[in-house]
Amino acid sequence: MSATIDPGAASGPDDRFAELDRLRVSSPLYDAVIDEVKGRRIRIGDHWLADFASCNYLGFDLDPEIIDSVADALRMWGTHPSWSRLLGNPRPYADIEERLTALLGAPDTLVLPTITHIHLSVIPVLAEGGWIALDDRAHKTVYDGCSVARGRGGTVCRFPTGDLDALAALLRRAPAGGANAGTSKAGTSKAGTSKAGTSKLICMDGVNSMTGNAPDLAAFAALAREHDALLYVDDAHGFGVLGERAADEPCPYGVRGNSIVRHVGETYDNIILVGGFSKAYSSLLAFLALPTALKNRLKVAAAPYLYSGPSPVASLATVLAGFDVNNARGDTIRSDLYRKSARVLAHVRRLGLATPNTSGLPIIEIPLDDADAVDAVGRFLYDAGIYVTLAAYPLVPRSEVGFRIQVTAANGDDEIDELCQTLSALVARFPVRTRAG
Ligand SMILES: Cc1ncc(COP(=O)(O)O)c(C=O)c1O
Repeated sequence: MSATIDPGAASGPDDRFAELDRLRVSSPLYDAVIDEVKGRRIRIGDHWLADFASCNYLGFDLDPEIIDSVADALRMWGTHPSWSRLLGNPRPYADIEERLTALLGAPDTLVLPTITHIHLSVIPVLAEGGWIALDDRAHKTVYDGCSVARGRGGTVCRFPTGDLDALAALLRRAPAGGANAGTSKAGTSKAGTSKAGTSKLICMDGVNSMTGNAPDLAAFAALAREHDALLYVDDAHGFGVLGERAADEPCPYGVRGNSIVRHVGETYDNIILVGGFSKAYSSLLAFLALPTALKNRLKVAAAPYLYSGPSPVASLATVLAGFDVNNARGDTIRSDLYRKSARVLAHVRRLGLATPNTSGLPIIEIPLDDADAVDAVGRFLYDAGIYVTLAAYPLVPRSEVGFRIQVTAANGDDEIDELCQTLSALVARFPVRTRAG
């Protein structure tokens, strides 16, 4: 579930999760056991559904070329390296980091098993007991990383999502210090040598996992540079989908899928980009784009590099094969993904629904007028053969409870027809929020 926990909205942990726990038991869309997968259709018991809850945006999970890459890799490396990365790195690790660095046009990259591992271990290292400004709609895992940093003496302030003025005001009041880890262009920052309490970090999402929209990254980067702060961006949902702009790009997502920094034509000065392969690339691996000095520091300071089991060999193989497919066919796949997302969005707009999505990206949230209807709406969609992510409280604030549709290139046009028909029927039956509302 890639959603944002509303961190301050309820009195105690038991209260906060009661509603979700009730849905976990009552809703067929939570905690389901999937018995079979055929293309983007899934079977639960004897009920087949079109899956619009998958983050496999490019359909790499089903790509024969990528699937076929696994067997040879397993024969060569076994199923799992089992060394922590500090102890030993099978050659695919070096190949992945080299190819990823080139794809992103970044100074260097470091891969670790998941983004969750990265946030929990790297944000506290970057903060070093210093100061963090946290976007109040950043992903829960970013929030958790900041909580660990706070537990190690850091100060965490929150700013309303997208609000540059509020962030600027916070930065003006922040204690003197700067971006550590050698990320600024002029080399004026401290290259990982800053003392505890002297760093300034801004943590936020790239493409937001619920709204499907991206922040004005260039403006945030400029603000970070102006205040000698480090901008830490989680683009889990942008990597593989958004990419650099090109005169001959087949769709507005850009080309190459090399993430939000390249999409907006930015450099990596004062920016640490975090992304993952577990969405568009359908593989269990995640990365940081960062300066080599910081990479070397994290090799001894970030727990997952030292202590955690690494990603399975099958994941390393599918990442490498994913790069090949991305080179050969990625832009065609993205163009198809754009077309399919546009079909759904056009229908949502025709129905007058109030989705926050203004980007055209394949994440389409539909808020309900009545948060209490979420269970019944979920049941209706399930019965109609449509599988979505229920965006229940506290995964989203109560005012935004609804459901999230995710489109992938592997969804057939027949499935999109079924989705659109079901949305039309849903609007006639339930209090779904309209654009005017
Ligand atoms: C924005 C965002 N960040 C991080 C994560 C967690 O990624 P991982 O599974 O690699 O830990 C998710 C997963 O849903 C996400 O949506």
